Amino acid sequence: MRQEKRELIDKVAARRAKVGVVGLGYVGLPLSMAFGEAGFSVLGLDIDARKVESIGRGECYFRHLDGAPLSRLVESGRLEASLDFSRAAQLDCVVICVPTPLTRQREPDMRFIVETAQALAPHVRRDQLFVLESTTWPGTTEEVVKPILESGGLRAGVDFHLAFSPEREDPGSHASTAVPKVVGGLSPDCLEIACALYASVVPRVVPVSSTRAAEMTKLLENIFRAVNIALVNELKMLCERMSIDVWEIVAAAATKGFGFMPFEPGPGLGGHCIPIDPFYLTWKAREFEMQTRFIELAGEINAQMPRYVVQRTQDALNARSQSLKGAQILVLGVAYKRDVDDLRESPALKVIELLTEAGARVRYHDPLVPQIGALRRHQLDMASVPLDDDALSSADAVMILTDHSDVDYARVVRQARLVIDTRNATHGLGGGDRVVKA
Ligand SMILES: NC(=O)c1ccc[n+]([C@@H]2O[C@H](COP(=O)([O-])OP(=O)(O)OC[C@H]3O[C@@H](n4cnc5c(N)ncnc54)[C@H](O)[C@@H]3O)[C@@H](O)[C@H]2O)c1
Repeated sequence: MRQEKRELIDKVAARRAKVGVVGLGYVGLPLSMAFGEAGFSVLGLDIDARKVESIGRGECYFRHLDGAPLSRLVESGRLEASLDFSRAAQLDCVVICVPTPLTRQREPDMRFIVETAQALAPHVRRDQLFVLESTTWPGTTEEVVKPILESGGLRAGVDFHLAFSPEREDPGSHASTAVPKVVGGLSPDCLEIACALYASVVPRVVPVSSTRAAEMTKLLENIFRAVNIALVNELKMLCERMSIDVWEIVAAAATKGFGFMPFEPGPGLGGHCIPIDPFYLTWKAREFEMQTRFIELAGEINAQMPRYVVQRTQDALNARSQSLKGAQILVLGVAYKRDVDDLRESPALKVIELLTEAGARVRYHDPLVPQIGALRRHQLDMASVPLDDDALSSADAVMILTDHSDVDYARVVRQARLVIDTRNATHGLGGGDRVVKA
C-alpha cells in the first residue's frame, strides 16, 4: 500500500492523475472546472443526458457561472462528460457530488448517494481514491458508501481509498476554490491522498480525524447559519411591533467587530442547504436518543417567514383601503438568494403560492430566472415579466423578495405605488410610507 500510495500522490502532484466528478450540478460542475484549470484531465459523470450533451458542446448551463473557462477546457480536451459509468475504472480519483434532499416525510433521501455508489461499485479498482462531497449525516461515508463500494471484494482503506470532504460553495459570492477545504479520511493514507488532491485546487486543506468529523463539520456550519437566521428573523418580527428597523440594529451591532456576526433577516430560508441539511442531523440524532431542539425551533421560525411577509403585504394594502384579494402584486426576485439562478426551496415560491391562494394576481421579475416550472413541492408555471414602467406602475404592491444586483431599486422606489422590501434593498432610497420593510 505504501508504495502505491506514494505513486498516486506523485501522480496527483504532477497532474497526471485522471479525476472524475460524479454529479455535474451546482457543486460538481465548478469543481470539475477547477480540477481542469489546475491541469488535471477531468471526466464528469452524470445521469442527466442534457447536462452531458451541453458540456460536450462546451456550453455552460448555469447562468451565474462564467462559461468561457468551460468551453476552453472542453476544447482543449481537459474536460469531458459522459453517461457511461464503466469509464470510472479509468479514473484515479472520483469525487461524488450528488443531491441529498429530504423525502416527503422530511427524512434524509439517500437514494442518489446509494445509486451512485452502486453504479461505481463494479468499476472500483485497486488504489483509486473516492471522495464523497454531498452534505449528509455523520456516518454516511462509512455506513452507506463504504459497504457498497466494497461489494466487488476490494476493501476501503486497504485496497482503495475513501474520504469525505464537504463542499463549501457559496453560489454567487465565494468561488469554492477560494475557501479552505475540510477533509476526513477512512484511514491516515486515505486522508493523505485526499488532502493531496484538494491541495491542488484550494489554498488550504484542513484535515480532520475521520470522515464523520468532516461530515459533522459541514452540518455545524449550516446549522449555525439556520439558527442565526432564525434568531434575526424572530427579532425582525419583534422590531416591527416596536417600530424599530431590524436592519439598522444588525448593522450597528456589527460594528462591534468581535463576538458578533451579522445575519440578514429575509422572507424565509432557501437553497439546497440551509433549509434541508440540519434535518439530516435531527434524523441521525434520534438513533442516539437526542432531540436537536435548536434545529427544530430554527426550522419553525424560518418556515413561518413567507406567511409573515404575505401578512405584512396584506396589512400594508389594508392601510390603503385595498385588499390583497384582487390586488396586482409584482414579485421582484424569485431565486433563493442574490445573483444566483437557483430556485430550490426558494421562499419566493411559497410567497407566490400564498398570495395566489389569497386571491392576488401575481407576476414576477427576475433577471436570472426567466421561467418557473413545476418543482418538487410547487406547481407553478410562470414567466418573468420585463421590469418596465407598466409592470412597476400597474402593481398595487411590488414585493422585493431577492435583492439581485442587476435591478434599479431607485427606479422601483420612484415608480411603484407600494414597495414591500424584505431585503433592505431600498435602504437610503427614500420613498416615505410607500416603502414598507417586512
Ligand atoms: N448548491 C450548493 O451551493 C451546495 C453547497 C454546498 C454543498 N452542497 C451539497 O452538494 C451536493 C450536490 O448539490 P448540488 O447543488 O450540486 O446538486 P445539483 O442537483 O445541482 O446537482 C446534482 C447532480 O447530480 C446528478 N445526479 C443525480 N443522481 C445521480 C447519479 N445517480 N449518478 C450521477 N449523477 C447523478 C444530477 O443529474 C445533477 O446533475 C448536495 O449534497 C448538496 O447538499 C451544495
